[in-house]
Amino acid sequence: MPKNPISVDRVSKTYLNGAFTALDEMTLEIEENKVTAFIGPSGCGKTTLLRLIAGLEYPDRGSLLSYGEPITGPAPERGMVFQAYTSFPWLTTIRNIQHGMEIQGIPKSEIKDRAHHFLKLVHLTKFANSYPSELSGGMKQRVAIARTLAQDPRILLLDEPFGALDAQVTWEMEEMVIEIIESEQKTVVLVTHDIQEAIYLADRIIFFTRQPGKIKADLAMEFKEGKRFERKEDLLGKDGYIEMEKKLYRMMREEIKDLSN
Ligand SMILES: Nc1ncnc2c1ncn2[C@@H]1O[C@H](COP(=O)(O)OP(=O)(O)O)[C@@H](O)[C@H]1O
Ligand SMILES: [Mg+2]
Repeated sequence: MPKNPISVDRVSKTYLNGAFTALDEMTLEIEENKVTAFIGPSGCGKTTLLRLIAGLEYPDRGSLLSYGEPITGPAPERGMVFQAYTSFPWLTTIRNIQHGMEIQGIPKSEIKDRAHHFLKLVHLTKFANSYPSELSGGMKQRVAIARTLAQDPRILLLDEPFGALDAQVTWEMEEMVIEIIESEQKTVVLVTHDIQEAIYLADRIIFFTRQPGKIKADLAMEFKEGKRFERKEDLLGKDGYIEMEKKLYRMMREEIKDLSN
């Protein structure tokens, strides 16, 4: 049987010397070429699980595998894009995109071609020679996405990548991500707290309970009938969309209702 990109088996993660359980016995398979979204209230462990998958942290118990191999640290096959802009301020757009590939030891001629390909994919060709300080927030995040993609990860890990952007830029970025997923054939794990974003981008939504993080629901976006929509408004009119949105709002309310207790 082919191995899944990510297998999470009974993973628990605590902080504060075990006093605080962030994730409790999580078990989950991430499927190839699918977009899986982690959603849930703030503090439910979404980022924790993504960082474990990235190899940036280790579980207290349980195992994490990537294509059947234990995850022992970060690897080029798992590329991560963070919420905060993470490119180098002293490098131009094109140099930022090339940087990760240089570290990987990819041949110079290939680096150039690949950098131009991904620059085009994130619609930044005109800004190849601009420095980050000359770019808007959305553009900077596009540089970060292009740089990560240029390293050719099989799995793309996105932690609230549009969380710091305004609504219209977020919307453009979401549509760009659809374009990229369709053309580059990636397995994507997306952390978000935005219900509409999760429904728009994901093929499957994993809903986390709040403290300790467990799986509350594992929902296939069947109403999309295997299609990804280029434009957000095309999805909004689809049969089943409103029901899915309502379901997720209700789950979110259930999880946050005892916050005041
Ligand atoms: N390094 C840490 N030390 C202590 N607590 C942490 C640490 N990292 C995360 N936590 C706690 O673990 C819980 C889950 O965090 P996180 O995964 O960032 O949640 P989410 O991304 O779903 O908002 C939160 O309550 C957070 O405060
Ligand atoms: Mg988070």
